[in-house]
Amino acid sequence: MSSSAQIGVTGLAVMGRNLARNFARNGYAVALHNRTAARTHALVEEFGSEGDFVATETAKEFVAALERPRRLVIMVKAGEPTDAVIQEFAPLLEPGDMIIDGGNAHFADTRRRERDLREQGIHFVGAGISGGEEGALHGPSIMPGGPVESYDSLGPMLEKISAKAADGAPCVTHVGPDGAGHFVKMVHNGIEYADMQLIGEAYQLLRDVAGYSPAQIADIFRTWNTGRLDSYLIEITAEVLSHVDAATGEPFVDVVQDQAEQKGTGRWTVQIALDLGVPVSGIAEAVFARSLSGHSALREASRGLAGPTASALSESEASAFADQVEQALYASKIVSYTQGFHEISAGSAEYDWNIDLGAVASIWRGGCIIRAAFLDRIRAAYDARADLPSLLSDDTFAQEIGAAQDDWRAVLVAAVQQGVPTPGFAAALAYYDALRAERLPAALTQGQRDFFGAHTYRRTDREGSFHTLWGGDRSEVTG
Ligand code: 6PG
Repeated sequence: MSSSAQIGVTGLAVMGRNLARNFARNGYAVALHNRTAARTHALVEEFGSEGDFVATETAKEFVAALERPRRLVIMVKAGEPTDAVIQEFAPLLEPGDMIIDGGNAHFADTRRRERDLREQGIHFVGAGISGGEEGALHGPSIMPGGPVESYDSLGPMLEKISAKAADGAPCVTHVGPDGAGHFVKMVHNGIEYADMQLIGEAYQLLRDVAGYSPAQIADIFRTWNTGRLDSYLIEITAEVLSHVDAATGEPFVDVVQDQAEQKGTGRWTVQIALDLGVPVSGIAEAVFARSLSGHSALREASRGLAGPTASALSESEASAFADQVEQALYASKIVSYTQGFHEISAGSAEYDWNIDLGAVASIWRGGCIIRAAFLDRIRAAYDARADLPSLLSDDTFAQEIGAAQDDWRAVLVAAVQQGVPTPGFAAALAYYDALRAERLPAALTQGQRDFFGAHTYRRTDREGSFHTLWGGDRSEVTG
């Protein structure tokens, strides 16, 4: 077998298969490998005419089919299956060869794998890939980490197969060393969860408070998609809401069980944010909302609890309310992205990744699940000021959220009064108000901590750390 393939893909389930086809359609010779060879041959049989595929059956054959330095993409399940594949292939590779993990790996695993393989001179590139099956085939957003040298030869190939933003820029960049790519993909998914939760809350408000039908709400989302909320998730929401179940003739959304599942990347985003001390409250509420939805026994047992039942508005009131919901959704979305970018910046500082936040916004403009017109403006905000303390420090976003806040509050008042749960909208507004607050009750928290645990506090008028002798004479002592 000649060593002619420029890239190899092992793990040919739907994502791996489509990624392999994408490389081949872009003119690269692609070596194929799968644990069960039948899948490899099926791919060649079905799509062989799309490009130059080299089907292989064993790990040895696969490695031998690749030109040097070898570029080997693994598209298997995160966790143990990824380690198993690395253990299978690493002994067959040589210094300078590359293993690219395109799965949704935890960035800490990626850091460990990168470190271990570096000792063998192998470049390990943890690459977040977003866009689902369609993206993998037609152009995903790609977030590679790993050694920067690997990007010299890998980058142009990834740029070719990636999505292109409206201005033609490829949706891929070298995010940073070791686990930076998978970290950014993790936060991407956390933001994805938040976006989906906020959209869900908007839907429920339009349904329960405004009294619209799913088909009418689909039309509202279609209109929103022509404005500042223009995004893939808003677009597909309209599709899902207008879909009618073939078996019952009912709106599809009414025949699906209301229990959201999750594979775990949103949860990781929150776990890591807790470790880094970054308040990603909007993302956390989205993760908790999914888990609450799944507690069917608890929900069943609680259904009889007292509370208001939402009553529908008149036609003109409903239309005005829908406009307010758009404002609340947009403002809450700004907060989710603010929190997500804060987490990336904290991760970057913690692990010395030097991540360019503007570049991250740029590569999310196309291909990925959270792609949105709005990301162009986030990119512009970071391009104008790379050390922006927060997205809310950008004048344009600050003005927009300020202009939306009256409606945002009004929507929350209606939600609270009518008993519609809106944890995402509420957490976002609480975050906004906490950031604006002159004084927070954290001073009282410090007082309580000092009272029961002598944990000390800092004062507003003097440097140093203080403890009060509670009880007795209440005199203060420097800690
Ligand atoms: C993407 C998606 C993708 C996937 C996740 C989320 O960027 O292409 O985020 O990675 O859909 O697995 O799935 P869950 O909702 O099941 O966590």
